Amino acid sequence: MSPFLLTRTLPEDATEAALRADVLHGLTRTPKELPPKWFYDARGSELFEEITRLPEYYPTRAEREILLARAPEIAAATAARTLVELGSGSSEKTRHLLDALPDLDSYVPVDVSESALTGAAKTLLAERPGLNVHALIADFTRGLALPGTPGPRLVAFLGGTIGNLLPAERTVFLRSVRSLLDPGDCLLLGTDLVKDESVLVRAYDDAAGVTAEFNKNVLAVVARELRADVDPDDFDHVALWNREQEWIEMRLRARSALTVKIRELDLAVSFAAGEEMRTEVSAKFRQEGVRAELAEAGMDLTHWWTDEEGRFALSLSTAS
Ligand SMILES: C[S@@+](CC[C@H](N)C(=O)[O-])C[C@H]1O[C@@H](n2cnc3c(N)ncnc32)[C@H](O)[C@@H]1O
Repeated sequence: MSPFLLTRTLPEDATEAALRADVLHGLTRTPKELPPKWFYDARGSELFEEITRLPEYYPTRAEREILLARAPEIAAATAARTLVELGSGSSEKTRHLLDALPDLDSYVPVDVSESALTGAAKTLLAERPGLNVHALIADFTRGLALPGTPGPRLVAFLGGTIGNLLPAERTVFLRSVRSLLDPGDCLLLGTDLVKDESVLVRAYDDAAGVTAEFNKNVLAVVARELRADVDPDDFDHVALWNREQEWIEMRLRARSALTVKIRELDLAVSFAAGEEMRTEVSAKFRQEGVRAELAEAGMDLTHWWTDEEGRFALSLSTAS
């Protein structure tokens, strides 16, 4: 196999069809909402990388701390020959795992962002010429067909991205991950933990305004892809803690009453002054909840590691 393959598992226009369907559904319902995967065009992926370096955004640093400390244990417990990473982005933290897995043959990063995948592969291949990298442009919520690389397989889902799925979506997603695992294969899951509200809100509403720009980027995507006459600056970034659901919500709030014309959909969407549209939830977890959700999907949690400050957890589970 060539050391680098890039596979699009959906036809090129499927992304556009999915965006059209999500925008039509999300902007004609009450309250309005858009799914977070549409943040991640090339600019959105860049902005997310900037977010990971912000002083307020602790999850990336906390997860890296755990990976650095636990990579040898993860390697010993999994003996992985293929590492599949869902929502891999820049694969920046993943290098700690790649370095620790002595028998690794193939790395399969999976992401909706083509620019993130090609950028990550370029860096990884320069550093590790012997590694087979089979990148998949795919939506991890739509069922995945993985390449026939050697097992055992370790599926990693880092960054707390699982928190961007609603509870019912998580159930379906975890079952689909379970279906990718053979006996002896493992899932390494990063989950951000419930903590003080002010720490959480600051992580999603930084002083430099990078998260605000990231949030508004979804409007830039809709404007470009669906020829919508929306000005991102007509909206304010909102981040709030939903205590009952134990998740952060990002919203966009219309500064004044306005109508957005979406020419590709032949649709006009009215916003009242102050109306909010949800663009992301980021659920925060507790150990027992994670264990129960994994068990319901047919996986046994075998290891639970947190950073020193107990802000973030990595768990390892096996197919039961
Ligand atoms: C919160 S970022 C995390 C990136 C990286 N794993 C990390 O830990 O820093 C989420 C990543 O998942 C990707 N993503 C979001 N929704 C996706 C979907 N439905 N299918 C595939 N990738 C998705 C985004 O493009 C982005 O790279």
